[in-house]
This record gives sequence, structure tokens and C-alpha cells, in this order.
Amino acid sequence: MKLTLSLLFLSLSLVQGLNPKCDVQDNGSTLQVIHVFSPCSPFRPSKPLSWEESVLQMQAKDTTRLQFLDSLVARKSIVPIASGRQIIQSPTYIVRAKIGTPPQTLLLAMDTSNDAAWIPCTACDGCASTLFAPEKSTTFKNVSCAAPECKQVPNPGCGVSSRNFNLTYGSSSIAANLVQDTITLATDPVPSYTFGCVSKTTGTSAPPQGLLGLGRGPLSLLSQTQNLYQSTFSYCLPSFKSLNFSGSLRLGPVAQPKRIKYTPLLKNPRRSSLYYVNLEAIRVGRKVVDIPPAALAFNPTTGAGTIFDSGTVFTRLVAPVYVAVRDEFRRRVGPKLTVTSLGGFDTCYNVPIVVPTITFIFTGMNVTLPQDNILIHSTAGSTTCLAMAGAPDNVNSVLNVIANMQQQNHRVLYDVPNSRGWCCS
Ligand SMILES: *[C@@H]1O[C@H](CO)[C@@H](O)[C@H](O)[C@H]1NC(C)=O
Ligand SMILES: *[C@@H]1O[C@H](CO)[C@@H](O)[C@H](O)[C@H]1NC(C)=O
Ligand SMILES: *[C@@H]1O[C@H](CO)[C@@H](O)[C@H](O)[C@H]1NC(C)=O
Ligand SMILES: *[C@@H]1O[C@H](CO)[C@@H](O)[C@H](O)[C@H]1NC(C)=O
Ligand SMILES: *[C@@H]1O[C@H](CO)[C@@H](O)[C@H](O)[C@H]1NC(C)=O
Repeated sequence: MKLTLSLLFLSLSLVQGLNPKCDVQDNGSTLQVIHVFSPCSPFRPSKPLSWEESVLQMQAKDTTRLQFLDSLVARKSIVPIASGRQIIQSPTYIVRAKIGTPPQTLLLAMDTSNDAAWIPCTACDGCASTLFAPEKSTTFKNVSCAAPECKQVPNPGCGVSSRNFNLTYGSSSIAANLVQDTITLATDPVPSYTFGCVSKTTGTSAPPQGLLGLGRGPLSLLSQTQNLYQSTFSYCLPSFKSLNFSGSLRLGPVAQPKRIKYTPLLKNPRRSSLYYVNLEAIRVGRKVVDIPPAALAFNPTTGAGTIFDSGTVFTRLVAPVYVAVRDEFRRRVGPKLTVTSLGGFDTCYNVPIVVPTITFIFTGMNVTLPQDNILIHSTAGSTTCLAMAGAPDNVNSVLNVIANMQQQNHRVLYDVPNSRGWCCS
């Protein structure tokens, strides 16, 4: 089985109009994707954030996310269902799903680096958002302790009628039952979908919504919908410059782009849900920057390498990679210009600049990022920052993470059973 990741550059037309349409119907196997700060999101901040505030907030969440991703690759443990409080706390993109019979609509965070299927349920103690009411669904079932799925949950216990499990992290914890019900994605019903029905959360930050993990581990949506979607999906993430835009998540092989660039996906047995790719080099302007090969190399043992992630906002590169890219970027922008910083971004300018292109060179696929995908401009236009950063240095970072800002406005196709891609011009 060959895995490919593909990028298509023709997807701008897929984002919808400027005025948010919050009641869009999801058609066929395509779901509308909205940013968590979108006017359509119930999780948006109660007061609109200023540019600086929202950038700094997203960046702060990224740091937690990076720590989470690094902790995943460092550990040998099997993939837990419902791992990663940080992801649930700060999802970037959300989709609508219907659960149960008759269907109850819930908003779920979309996450490519997680297998979790996680939904807050009725009588959940400590959950803060819309809850799923299992007692109102005729198709709801508890998963019994003997079921094979039960081996995949962390800290399992056996309740009166079902398997339950707990997660602890610092001072917080989540308790959930392993259950099954029909989940309807756009117009596709998926019967007997296995997920965690959250019954209790404690700690300072209860997860506000459910999670739709698009990782490819054993309990993931992909594994559970093998016949329906054949481990194929694509998304186009909306630009966060205008949170009014929406994007789409397209499930299954039908209607996927045919003219594509592709690069092989690499699999790390230690962390089966992550989508690793082989980033060979980075070009800034015409120059392929000088990076020690070990800083890019895929190493399943240490977890080092490069992943595509939909939950991190700004691309993070391990120090030697970031420094090489940044230094060449600064040199090309103009070594005499004053460089300022903003939060974790260390390459900002308060004057208009001419920006060099940045190209990620993956095996078989070069991706030159549009300016909107590498720069953050303040709303007033007075500050421009290179929207990437070094990996946090307080953790033992080995991962390069291609984040969602760098993916925005592209259709990114995860084609697990391999359809050959054609390179688009
Ligand atoms: C579904 O189709 C309707 C009518 O064609 C359209 O308005 C809507 O935006 C579509 N929804 C999605 C998620 O594409
Ligand atoms: C499922 O298990 C929960 C908790 O163990 C129990 O309260 C509920 O009645 C069970 N539901 C069904 C349909 O068996
Ligand atoms: C999980 O936590 C709940 C209370 O929060 C407790 O009743 C239950 O026994 C715990 N289950 C396991 C498997 O540790
Ligand atoms: C987004 O939508 C809101 C509410 O409809 C509107 O007030 C605002 O001007 C829009 N913003 C942009 C950038 O289009
Ligand atoms: C990608 O860019 C590199 C360096 O500029 C070049 O050598 C290579 O041929 C390009 N590969 C593809 C697939 O375009």
C-alpha cells in the first residue's frame, strides 16, 4: 500500500463568499469547514480580538500543541482514543456532524494528527458545550468490555454495561465511555461508529467540543470507514485573514482532484496517526538554504521528521532549519532593515518589504507558498512578520510541523491507498 499526500493549487474558488453563511447544507460527502474564530462558530471569542491578540493567542496555543506532538513521538505507547486535551481545547477548524437516530447536530474539531473520536454526552459533569444525548438515540450502544476496540483505549475500566476509560493530565482529567452510534457526515451515515462519550471532565479547561480525528490509527474515522471512504480525504482550509470564509472537507475518493502533485506519506509505527512526509530541502528565493541533513531526516525511532498537521497554526521548524530559512529570508528582504519581533515571531518589519518566495522541496513535489501563506500583516498594514517560527526550545523538539496557515487555500489530499498523482503546473 502506497501512501501519497497531494496538494492542488486550484482551490481558491472553493472557499465561499465573504458573508458568513452559517446554515450551509453539507452535500454528498463534503462538509463545510469553519475557523473556530469564525462568526459562525459558537466557540469564537465573545469580543472580537485585535490582530495582535489573535496572533499571539494562536501562537500560544501552538506552543502547547507542539509539546503535545513532541510528546506523541517521544513515547512508545499505543495510540489512545481521545488523546490530547490541548487539541480539543484549541481546535482551529470545525465541522458539523450528526450523531444518533434521529440525528443530533454537533460541531467537532477536525484534527489530522489524532485518531480520537470524542463527544461530550448528556449529564457530562464539567462539559461546557452542546451535548450529545444518547438516551434520545435509538441506535446508541455501549461497547462491551470484551470488544476488540476496548484494547485501544487508555486506562480502561469495566463498568456495569460498558467499557469506560479515563485520561489524566496534570490537574485535569476526562472520563468517557466507549460507545457506538451512527454518525452522519454530510449525507453519509456511518453506522456503529465507535467513539468516546465523555461523562466527566475536571480541571481548569474542560474540552468545549468533540473531536473528529482524521489520523489513520486503528480507531480513527479512516479505519472505521474503510469501505465508504477508502482512507481518502481532502480539505481546503479557509484563510484566517478573513474568518468569514469557509473551506471544505471532502471524504472519499469520489470527486477528488485528479491533476495533482504528490509526495509519499511516510509511516511511523510508533505514532501511526501522524502524516509524515519527506521534506528534503527549503528554497528561499532562488537559494536552497544550507540545512544539516539530520535536521530534516525522517527517523521513526526518535520521531524526527516532518509532518503535515491541521491543528498547528504556524509552521514550526527545528532550530537549525528555521535559522537557515530565516537568515536567508532576512538577507533577501534587506540586511539593513530593522527587524522587530512579535510574540514568538522574530522576523517582523515595520516598513513595506519585498518578499522572497519560500519553496518546500518534498520528495517529488515542490510547493512554493503564496505570500498569504508565509506572511502575517497587521490590519493596519504597518507590521509584517514571517509566519513561521523555531520549534519551542523548552521541549526536546524533533518535529518539523507544516501547519495550517501554510496549507490554507490549497486542497490537501490524503490518499492512503495511492492513486497516482499528476503534477499540476
Ligand atoms: C451544498 O449545495 C448548496 C446548493 O448547491 C450550496 O449552497 C452549499 O454551499 C453546498 N454546501 C457545501 C458544504 O458545499
Ligand atoms: C450505557 O452505559 C451507561 C453507563 O454505564 C448506562 O448509564 C447506559 O444506560 C447504557 N446505555 C445502554 C443503551 O446500554
Ligand atoms: C474514572 O474516573 C471515575 C470518576 O471520575 C471513576 O469512577 C472510575 O472508576 C474511573 N475509571 C477508571 C477505569 O479508572
Ligand atoms: C465578516 O462578517 C461580519 C458579519 O457578517 C461582517 O460584519 C464583517 O465585516 C465581515 N468581515 C469581512 C472581513 O468580510
Ligand atoms: C524542486 O526544486 C529543486 C531545487 O530548486 C529542483 O532541483 C527540483 O528539480 C525541483 N523538483 C520538482 C519536482 O520540481
